[in-house]
Amino acid sequence: MASLVDSFGRVIKDLRISITPRCNFKCTYCDPMGMGHKEPLGTVTVTQVAHVVEAAAGLGMESVRFTGGEPLLRKDLTDMIYHAKKIVGISDVAVTTNASLLKRRLPELLEAGLDRVNISLDAINADVFKMATAGGNIKQVWEGIEAVMEAGMHPVKLNAVVMRGVNDGELIPLAELTKDKPIHMRYIEYMHLNNAEASDYQSQFMPGKEIKAKLEEAFGTLEPVETDPSAPARLFRVPGWQGAIGFINPVSEPFCGACSRMRLTSDGRLRPCLMTDREIDIREALNHESPVEAITEMFLVAAHRKVKSGIVTPVDRPRTMVAIGG
Ligand code: 5AD
Ligand code: SF4
Repeated sequence: MASLVDSFGRVIKDLRISITPRCNFKCTYCDPMGMGHKEPLGTVTVTQVAHVVEAAAGLGMESVRFTGGEPLLRKDLTDMIYHAKKIVGISDVAVTTNASLLKRRLPELLEAGLDRVNISLDAINADVFKMATAGGNIKQVWEGIEAVMEAGMHPVKLNAVVMRGVNDGELIPLAELTKDKPIHMRYIEYMHLNNAEASDYQSQFMPGKEIKAKLEEAFGTLEPVETDPSAPARLFRVPGWQGAIGFINPVSEPFCGACSRMRLTSDGRLRPCLMTDREIDIREALNHESPVEAITEMFLVAAHRKVKSGIVTPVDRPRTMVAIGG
């Protein structure tokens, strides 16, 4: 079986596909200017995505995650999932979503074969949530989370990007969700992706260690839960609680050494590293008469352009997160 290995010996297994730069939220850490509201819906087509996934599987990749923007804004996400699931070698198809449209869309996504969802949830309090997402309606998001729980997609992974002065008062209520539900509540360190003035960024950044200390102050020492070492989240639990609490610390404890990811942007570029603005335009390959072979070549080029570690300090970037996909 072929495998895609980069110049540093890392095996690339996970493909993230951003299918749209559009978003119906404007999370301050992701899209502070609200660019996502005005973006086009995304140009990659169902057929192109199917070809990219086929090429990826041929190179030994195993998992596909659809992101955005907000991927559920595209009606044809269902067809993309359906095709990805049919490709031999792809064992896991997931979506990262803000869940605002999830309740309505979940039945068709499940029917298409969706395995897992990750949901962004930055606060429990409706007003804090509204502020963090610049207008998001938490009721809809809850309905989405409940629908996923009812469908038995366990564990349900929830992600909160922690920003001092925005949602750091929500750390404890968020953790309490793991008491009697099979939820993994994951706290993500705020990364600088052209989303703020460097000085604002510095004051809003909160290290994972401090987040953990605050939780331990409230709940006592957290007990480690065994985790896949290549996964970015380190998992813990409050002893006796059903769910888990995770820390994703890309800034204070970069996990680039175990990186297994490659990204496709919604405008047809391969992006070898989330934190590095080095992209390869593969539109010609997407429209080639033998697309799978042409895209395979581009994956090989992109793998060799992966950097050893991404830049995680504040730097000017042409794209904010909403256009790259988390
Ligand atoms: N820092 C950390 N994570 C981010 N995300 C978006 N922007 C940032 C950022 N600046 C992640 C969030 C969100 C997903 C879509 O991308 O986890 O849930
Ligand atoms: Fe939209 Fe997700 Fe970015 Fe929030 S984090 S603006 S929901 S893409």
